[in-house]
Amino acid sequence: MNFFHGCTALITGASSGLGAEFARQLAPHARSLILVARRLERLEALKEELDRPGLTIHCHAADVADEVQIEALLAALAASGERVSLLINNAGLGDHGFFEDSDWERVEAMLDVNIKALTRLTHAILPDLVRAGRGAILNVSSIASLLPLPKMAVYAASKAYVTSFSEGLRGELRGTGVSVTALCPGPVNTEFFNIAERAQSRESMPAPELFKVPATEVVAAALDAVERDRARVIPGWLVCIIMTIASLVPIFVLRLFIAQRRKEKAEG
Ligand SMILES: NC(=O)c1ccc[n+]([C@@H]2O[C@H](COP(=O)([O-])OP(=O)(O)OC[C@H]3O[C@@H](n4cnc5c(N)ncnc54)[C@H](OP(=O)(O)O)[C@@H]3O)[C@@H](O)[C@H]2O)c1
Repeated sequence: MNFFHGCTALITGASSGLGAEFARQLAPHARSLILVARRLERLEALKEELDRPGLTIHCHAADVADEVQIEALLAALAASGERVSLLINNAGLGDHGFFEDSDWERVEAMLDVNIKALTRLTHAILPDLVRAGRGAILNVSSIASLLPLPKMAVYAASKAYVTSFSEGLRGELRGTGVSVTALCPGPVNTEFFNIAERAQSRESMPAPELFKVPATEVVAAALDAVERDRARVIPGWLVCIIMTIASLVPIFVLRLFIAQRRKEKAEG
């Protein structure tokens, strides 16, 4: 964890799940943590939990789907004099069900949080990292980014953007001292599943227990990958093996699987 000694980390979506766990694992090493989410009371509770001498924790309530609130966050950051050295774009949400039945506001929020906010924050913070000649960006993507995913088509496509953007940016930044890593977790027990379920849905999201990796392990693997300057990390050996095999499956075989899902809708 030497890499993180004295760092200033900005973590979006720090009020629960992976984001809160990033804060927990970085707290013993960081100089400063900037925690961002809508639920300020959760951030304040985390601040109290992690408080130690030598660590400054800023809690910033912001809906990152709202451009005005993102700009206010960036202005507050500039006013605080903090210089971010590690940006963890973690905030994200899913929506499970057929696209034609989806609620547009939810779809729009997913695009705004998963794609737009991540890109805007990276765009605003990256020049400072490049000027300093040192720093890291960790973008939380998903294994869903690596395959088309019926009933989570927009979520998977939004995460495909995150993985592709991370790889492209990483290439641009070679030799600058700034690294970019895409974290591609499989299923993790967090609030993600409850939020992705639609209120009227009678069917729960498939997430086999066998494939689940604890949040502590996912975050430890992600921070290790940042420290080692890895482009991509898929935590959990079983998930990693399955995704490696899946990446070798020809697209026409994947399409058969997608067609089956549509049949299920027609019968339902
Ligand atoms: N859990 C999984 O199985 C899994 C698998 C692969 C990838 N991921 C990815 O991991 C990341 C973290 O998710 P998680 O599993 O930890 O789920 P989570 O427990 O639901 O946490 C999501 C975080 O995002 C924040 N967030 C959502 N919308 C926001 C908004 N409009 N403005 C500001 N913050 C917002 C939430 O904070 P507030 O509600 O307080 O705003 C919360 O802190 C996401 O990008 C997700 O796509 C999760």
